[in-house]
Amino acid sequence: MANLDTQFLGLTLSSPIIIGSSGLTGNTANICKLAEAGAGAVVLKSIFEEQILASIAREVRKGGVIYGQEDVDEFIAYYERMHSINDYMALIRETKKSVSIPVVASINATSDKEWQAICADLTEAGADALQLNLFISPFDTRLSSDGIEETYYSVVRKVRALTPLPLAVKIGPFFTNLGRLAAGLGEAGAGATVLFNRYSSPDIDVKGLSMKTGSSMSSDTEYLSALRWTALLSRSAGTQVVAATGIHDGTTVIKLLLAGARAVEVVSTVYKNGESRIREMNDGIAKWMDEKSYTSIDAFRGTMSGEKVDDARIFERVQYMKRFGDI
Ligand SMILES: Cc1cc2nc3c(=O)[nH]c(=O)nc-3n(C[C@H](O)[C@H](O)[C@H](O)COP(=O)(O)O)c2cc1C
Repeated sequence: MANLDTQFLGLTLSSPIIIGSSGLTGNTANICKLAEAGAGAVVLKSIFEEQILASIAREVRKGGVIYGQEDVDEFIAYYERMHSINDYMALIRETKKSVSIPVVASINATSDKEWQAICADLTEAGADALQLNLFISPFDTRLSSDGIEETYYSVVRKVRALTPLPLAVKIGPFFTNLGRLAAGLGEAGAGATVLFNRYSSPDIDVKGLSMKTGSSMSSDTEYLSALRWTALLSRSAGTQVVAATGIHDGTTVIKLLLAGARAVEVVSTVYKNGESRIREMNDGIAKWMDEKSYTSIDAFRGTMSGEKVDDARIFERVQYMKRFGDI
């Protein structure tokens, strides 16, 4: 019988399917259902950097000033009252008591301001690991790519100095040299890189001449970017690679494991199909493993990844020429 055990950040997961940070993982009752349905681990709903800074500003400086724009700071103060840091620590404690799967805390951050102070509390509350959702906005044209990437490393170094928790970093796909970035995150102290975060994509309604936002749920074809970069980086990143975005069924999980993913994070498919989807995906992976006579995930993980970056580069180039060279 196929064994789906997976080592991720030094933790043993009973399945490579991690439920990604979202409303699904924002309360203990729901997390119990996810665990029962066969999730290997959960990444809790994120605390936002602004929440932490607002809490620090209230506690320490009494000012509550984060961005210096009254309406924005008022919203952050309101959000912080509704979702307090203490509530987050209580969520970790209660969830840890209720499930046996690893519980990963999550922080969504856009700067290396002093929000890292919270790491000690997360450790004390009993989180098994920490995932940072990092997006340092590249909107300032005076900043160089190197400068922006240095901020990513600086954040990871600061967090690393404050907590011994195993650390994953979820990033977006838009970097000049993703392999270098993943290696740099590893050198700074991250144990895993999650490829990729899914950004909201604003659109324009030409009838109403207004902005509209795209769906917050992914489609089942969006995994291709994660598949490509997992295959290219899983052997060379210097961190474990976890795949995310557009992973909706067991077959897609198998593809990502073949490409070298340590685990996958899923959200939209569970929203769309309910937590029974997790069991279906696990069953699908186990059935395929039995058919192929694989008894463990390590027996096939990475067998279809880019062997060496140079070979992968040549392979990609030849595929591109075959496809478009004569058109
Ligand atoms: C309703 C909803 C809430 C989310 N909240 C968070 C969050 O708090 N922190 C985070 O890092 N990602 C958050 N995400 C992003 C997911 O963790 C995930 O990266 C994204 O949905 C892509 O995975 P999927 O294609 O399986 O949905 C959220 C996604 C959804 C749909």
